[in-house]
Amino acid sequence: MVDTTRLWNKDDLKRMGEILREDPTRGWDNTWYTHILTISAIEDLILRYRQQNVMPWDAGEVQRPLQDLVLSGTLDLPRLGRALVPGCGRGYDASFIASALGLDVLAMDISPTAIQAAKEHLARAPQALSGGTIVFEETDFFTYSVSDDEKFALAYDYTFFVAIPPSRRPEWGQQMSALIKPGGYLITLVFPLGLPLEGGPPFHVEPDDYVEPLGDGWEKVLDKIPEVSSEHHEGKDRLVVWLRV
Ligand SMILES: C[S@@+](CC[C@H](N)C(=O)[O-])C[C@H]1O[C@@H](n2cnc3c(N)ncnc32)[C@H](O)[C@@H]1O
Repeated sequence: MVDTTRLWNKDDLKRMGEILREDPTRGWDNTWYTHILTISAIEDLILRYRQQNVMPWDAGEVQRPLQDLVLSGTLDLPRLGRALVPGCGRGYDASFIASALGLDVLAMDISPTAIQAAKEHLARAPQALSGGTIVFEETDFFTYSVSDDEKFALAYDYTFFVAIPPSRRPEWGQQMSALIKPGGYLITLVFPLGLPLEGGPPFHVEPDDYVEPLGDGWEKVLDKIPEVSSEHHEGKDRLVVWLRV
């Protein structure tokens, strides 16, 4: 059971920033632990206890604007092919996409512990998944590549864009352009709006920040303030959907 009482808690966000500044890549995995007890200088023998639990992003549920978008039929989203969810965490949204749209989802995260937690979560609620399939994979989004016939019909970004250093946003856009096929959709659930310019993650974001990294070849097909937001999100999120032309 996820402790959502600490969702977007300031102290946890501060601690998360410290952990990630120590190690911007492996730090994501370390957010899941309480104590890191070194029993040997050899890195492989580091013993880690699973209690850190500094994951102030883990909502414990599917994001409501995503649910609303898919179930309302506002857009003619794909119902065949592959979907990509980078930085999937425990995978609530990824499983929803597989079930509700019937797509075969690749949900990736750089943290092996996040991937393990996502698999365990799905195993506890297998009835939650019907329709498409889902694979949780420990992968770095920035080094992932596919052949033309494996390209994705849909990608979904919620709190991944804001988790990566802003200097990597151009790479984020190049990857999305390389991975999503023409006619495919990119759903960006922009959150949290209104952060200071300095500090992060989550890093400061505006809905327009996605335009330049994506570059040419994308048409914005939806841009709205969600009618239904998840708890703690009111006034801080925006749903923007892009079509790869
Ligand atoms: C703020 S969390 C959001 C997780 C998830 N979207 C959710 O809402 O529960 C950001 C996630 O991105 C993952 N991440 C960071 N850099 C990554 C990378 N280069 N490739 C894949 N995942 C990455 C982290 O491990 C973390 O789980």
